[in-house]
Amino acid sequence: MTIAVRYQTRNGNTEAFANQIAAVAGVQAEKIDTPLPADPVDILFVGGGTYMLRPDKTLSAFVGSLDATKVKHIAIFTTSGGPETPADKSLTKLADKQGIPVIGHFHQMMGGKGMIGAKKDVTLKPDQIQAVKTFAESMLAHN
Ligand SMILES: Cc1cc2nc3c(=O)[nH]c(=O)nc-3n(C[C@H](O)[C@H](O)[C@H](O)COP(=O)(O)O)c2cc1C
Repeated sequence: MTIAVRYQTRNGNTEAFANQIAAVAGVQAEKIDTPLPADPVDILFVGGGTYMLRPDKTLSAFVGSLDATKVKHIAIFTTSGGPETPADKSLTKLADKQGIPVIGHFHQMMGGKGMIGAKKDVTLKPDQIQAVKTFAESMLAHN
């Protein structure tokens, strides 16, 4: 099974989750400008933050340009300050448009964490690590 993890981040929150997913999957988490593997990807984990009720436009462009013959399934992970999940909804629509099934969604509300200041290493709480690992494992069990 070919797995890839691609993420967009401004302040490191989403990156921290991407790294946890990648560790479970046994791959490296990469930013969205890193090309996908040459082989078709069975599960592409795609993640990003929420900015003014939207995903970053670079991430929307990335998902909106995915090729269904090269990416078989998508698992979306998003972070935001508040409880709403507009980035997830928007990315799901873009995946649908490309004809790529979205097999799961993970969302974490970060509150004020990462809202201000320069990008730095984000330390996740144990329950956040557990939640994202459980998500990754359940996606990898998809067949
Ligand atoms: C410019 C900016 C706009 C934001 N807009 C929203 C928003 O509309 N809704 C929300 O819930 N969180 C919002 N947030 C919070 C981020 O979604 C949250 O910090 C997220 O974890 C950022 O991910 P990142 O650290 O990977 O960039 C915003 C943060 C920034 C910096």
